[in-house]
Amino acid sequence: MQSIRVELGERAYPIHIGAGILDDSSLYSAHIGAGRVAVVTNTVVAPLYLERLRRALAGAKIDAVEIVIADGEQTKEWHTLDRVFDALLEARCDRQTPIVALGGGVVGDLAGFAAAVYQRGVPFVQVPTTLLAQVDSSVGGKTAINHPRGKNMIGAFYQPLAVVSDVATLATLPPRELRAGLAEVIKHGFALDRTFAEWIEGSIERLVAGDAEALIYAVRRSCELKAEVVAEDERESGRRAVLNFGHTFAHAIETGMGYGKWLHGEAVAAGMVMAAELSARAGLIGEDDVQRVRKLIARAGLPVAGPGALPPERYFELMAVDKKVAHGRVRFVLLDGVGRAVLRADPGKQMVREAITAAAAAAAAH
Ligand SMILES: NC(=O)c1ccc[n+]([C@@H]2O[C@H](COP(=O)([O-])OP(=O)(O)OC[C@H]3O[C@@H](n4cnc5c(N)ncnc54)[C@H](O)[C@@H]3O)[C@@H](O)[C@H]2O)c1
Ligand SMILES: [Zn+2]
Repeated sequence: MQSIRVELGERAYPIHIGAGILDDSSLYSAHIGAGRVAVVTNTVVAPLYLERLRRALAGAKIDAVEIVIADGEQTKEWHTLDRVFDALLEARCDRQTPIVALGGGVVGDLAGFAAAVYQRGVPFVQVPTTLLAQVDSSVGGKTAINHPRGKNMIGAFYQPLAVVSDVATLATLPPRELRAGLAEVIKHGFALDRTFAEWIEGSIERLVAGDAEALIYAVRRSCELKAEVVAEDERESGRRAVLNFGHTFAHAIETGMGYGKWLHGEAVAAGMVMAAELSARAGLIGEDDVQRVRKLIARAGLPVAGPGALPPERYFELMAVDKKVAHGRVRFVLLDGVGRAVLRADPGKQMVREAITAAAAAAAAH
């Protein structure tokens, strides 16, 4: 097992990463005293891992109140949150009762927000079971639910006591979900660390195949890189925005296609190719680096262009309503070299249009 620390002063916390560590009672007793916790999970993850977590907790003399919500992004909303509060109150959970999130990003975001506001905040532990949750959503303390008018519109920054990431749980993940998580791993490499990008280039087949050792390293390095950025800028007033590499395009794809058609990671993958094309047009990188981004994403089995149904003009409409609009102008995260993402003001419609079209043309030529 490996452990890293997210350095956030008095809110600092460890992330434990390994294969098979879900069953390790000592990991829970290190952060939670004997007593009771509320485990929030969903109908897909519960039959797979809830009993094992319950037993591991019991080994640390911790009883578990089980709260099982429905599966899917559409459950990340107010009514489900309210049902979680009902269950917590029903079981007489108090300010000392930790909430443990067992599941993907949806469970983590919802349970984390519940922990942030239930009785003004209770201790929170994350046990992420998707690659996306292990490399991205469980790090950084963003918690939220969706509002009918926008994704993640109601939320809080709330850091957990600890994160327990067991890569062995990824064995049951649908391959498409694993690949979607790899998009965020690739993002961390290209946006933040050239050496890591090179390691991913040499390891992508093992990662796609679910090799535990490769996954442990990918999760660990992703968490380290994201944690560094978060430690610098916990509340995203500046630097943290580089983690949105590919995301301005991705959000347009997700909204434009209707949530669920494209997985978030798939949209991010296509968005990174477009952002790389845009970076080349802005004179920051050469065509060879654009090819590196495109090639790695293709090898991961992820899309290298947006959906044909979405013309560039639609992207502009969708980007205009994106919450990342800063003072009426869209900001883009561009590459100033492999491993070096930079924030730039909108380089103009013509260049953005060319970047979208170039990604589509290269994909079609294949
Ligand atoms: N808080 C953040 O910083 C942050 C960052 C990125 C994404 N997010 C959020 O994360 C969410 C997406 O997370 P996700 O991609 O993990 O989706 P998800 O939680 O919906 O999980 C994907 C699917 O896999 C299932 N699943 C989970 N673990 C499994 C396992 N081990 N075996 C088999 N099936 C399993 C889930 O039930 C679900 O059907 C979005 O709501 C997004 O907004 C948050
Ligand atoms: Zn993302």
